[in-house]
Amino acid sequence: MNGVLKNRDLQPELMDDPKLSPELHDQALEGLRRINRLSSGSASMFRELRRHHKRLQRPLKLLDIACGGGDSVVRMARLAETQKLPFQVEGCDISGHALTNAENLAARHNLVNTRFFQRDVLRHGVPEGYDMVTCSLFLHHLTATDATDLIRNMASACRLSIQIDDLKRSIVGYWLAKAGCHLLSSSPIVRFDGPQSVRAAFTLDEIRDMANTSGLAKFSLTSRWPQRWTLKWTKPCQ
Ligand SMILES: C[S@@+](CC[C@H](N)C(=O)[O-])C[C@H]1O[C@@H](n2cnc3c(N)ncnc32)[C@H](O)[C@@H]1O
Repeated sequence: MNGVLKNRDLQPELMDDPKLSPELHDQALEGLRRINRLSSGSASMFRELRRHHKRLQRPLKLLDIACGGGDSVVRMARLAETQKLPFQVEGCDISGHALTNAENLAARHNLVNTRFFQRDVLRHGVPEGYDMVTCSLFLHHLTATDATDLIRNMASACRLSIQIDDLKRSIVGYWLAKAGCHLLSSSPIVRFDGPQSVRAAFTLDEIRDMANTSGLAKFSLTSRWPQRWTLKWTKPCQ
């Protein structure tokens, strides 16, 4: 790998700045929404939840942590509604403004099977009571120690399974992010945070090591388009 991307370069992202203006934050969430439409892993998360339901035949609850503008939550809740499946899909985030944006999105779709709440998952942990706990585009914001702890906490909090999606640190991924963020959004936040996220992302080997260190047995780690990875784990005996 190119020298620049050989090691992680973890810098604070502009979207995480609590002083970010509501206008710039909304514009960035809208840009991220456009990117998520092309690349999100929520359809695969939904398929996993549906698989659990087929086997257990009971209502299920999913929590998406660091949910941002609620794109994944809303997509999964809409799929559940269309397919008449008894799923409650919830999201939590540290940012009150992102949660308002997510609530507005859910309201625009008249969803009644969603809920959003504020939570700093690093300080206050992952809440219990959910069958499946998911997380997308958040791990690369964290140090390796915090990311390993988060994987462990998600696994311990969930009743059935976890699924984590994020970017791969790679040269192709870096240029895809640079071009994609430029084409899909005029937000200066997205245009900075996109390529920076790739510089801070983990490689597949690093994720595999962290999943092993966090004590997950028999997880699956796959690469997917566009320069992303997905980590899936199901609790033993589920
Ligand atoms: C890049 S966004 C990803 C949003 C969403 N998951 C998606 O895929 O579009 C990262 C999100 O992590 C949230 N976040 C940052 N630190 C957090 C923390 N300690 N606890 C919960 N959420 C956090 C930010 O507010 C932001 O909404």
